[in-house]
Amino acid sequence: YTTAPFHGTHQAALLTPPARNTAFVAFDVTADNRAELADLLRALTARARFLTAGGTPPPVGITGPPSDSGLLGPGVPADGGLRVTVAAGSSLFDGRFGLSGHAPRRLRTMPPFPDDDLDPAWCHGDLGVQLCADSTDTVLHALRDLTRHTRGGLQIRWRLDGFTAPPRPTGAPRNLFGFKDGTANPNPRDTRLMDRLVWTGTRSGEPRWTTGGSYQVVRLIRMLVEFWDRVPRTEQERILGRDRDTGAPLDGDRELDAPRYALDPKGEVTPLDSHIRVAGPRTPEAEDRRLLRRSYNYDRGTDRNGNLDMGLLFCCYQQDLDRQFTAVQRSLAGEPLTDYVTPFGGGYFFALPGVRDGADWYGRALM
Ligand code: HEM
Repeated sequence: YTTAPFHGTHQAALLTPPARNTAFVAFDVTADNRAELADLLRALTARARFLTAGGTPPPVGITGPPSDSGLLGPGVPADGGLRVTVAAGSSLFDGRFGLSGHAPRRLRTMPPFPDDDLDPAWCHGDLGVQLCADSTDTVLHALRDLTRHTRGGLQIRWRLDGFTAPPRPTGAPRNLFGFKDGTANPNPRDTRLMDRLVWTGTRSGEPRWTTGGSYQVVRLIRMLVEFWDRVPRTEQERILGRDRDTGAPLDGDRELDAPRYALDPKGEVTPLDSHIRVAGPRTPEAEDRRLLRRSYNYDRGTDRNGNLDMGLLFCCYQQDLDRQFTAVQRSLAGEPLTDYVTPFGGGYFFALPGVRDGADWYGRALM
């Protein structure tokens, strides 16, 4: 794996495919004031820069604790492929840090949607930090390092780890319902499309400091896999709107074929209420509400009743929370898939602009 570049206009994980492993951590900021928050963001930047680039942790004296957990051996490998994504929750702008006039215009607390069963212990946060890497130990090493260096000002509120599967056999990784997930994503290399769908800035009516950032929606969605596994395959495919083996739309042959809903106005091939047809109707009007999805599977073991506790750490990025995620989520209300899933947590965040160079730090233009 190659090192994901750390410096840039945008944070790297938005531009790169999902890694094999992730930890999503929501923090409460316990720092007392704006100066302390700025120190915290500087410290977070310095650690993320080091962990991403790799190197040798500084030596320590004989009596002090080692400067590094040692999880990755004597040095931090330069090829870990780590990506750190830092995002602000709306509560960061609640007045504690004198930032209330500076919030991204559409940022607010994630509301419950119909069919949600939100657990407050798994919702929101002042800061969201997502760590992505291809191996679990790289993720955990970074998590230990970042929490150790920010202990005075950050406290973990909730954390969910996730993973993606390797291609089975090709194309997008499969989610825990056995379907390829991520196929119909906008291409991050298409800069004009990303300017239209993902990045915020003055052109999208936002404060100047947000330039190069993006709204991040995280939804923790439990999937009732025992129930799903009893559903006939054709019914599963009608619920989602794609072929389970190939990932092709029901009117196509290959994963990347575009569905042609105009030829099927009554939904005889692809049901009108299937997930992909509602989420992505492929009409000119729906083009502007497309999302950049960066979801992961999660597995939390077993619940108290002996049921498997697994699901989707859904994550998407967009330029405008209302025009994109909210519009799509609202249209999905009552879709047949809702019987098989339970959203229980997550939050709305704003992924900060990228750290541009060695002198820049997360949120500098905001502070
Ligand atoms: C597409 C599964 C939740 C938005 C898909 C696809 C699958 C899938 C299998 C087709 C492959 C692809 O293009 O990625 C699921 C499951 C979910 C879930 C199992 C819950 C556990 C959501 C949520 C949203 C969403 C919460 C947004 C509110 C979309 C969109 C597409 C999509 C926009 C692309 C549609 C298109 O343009 O063809 N999803 N999804 N999904 N999903 Fe979901």
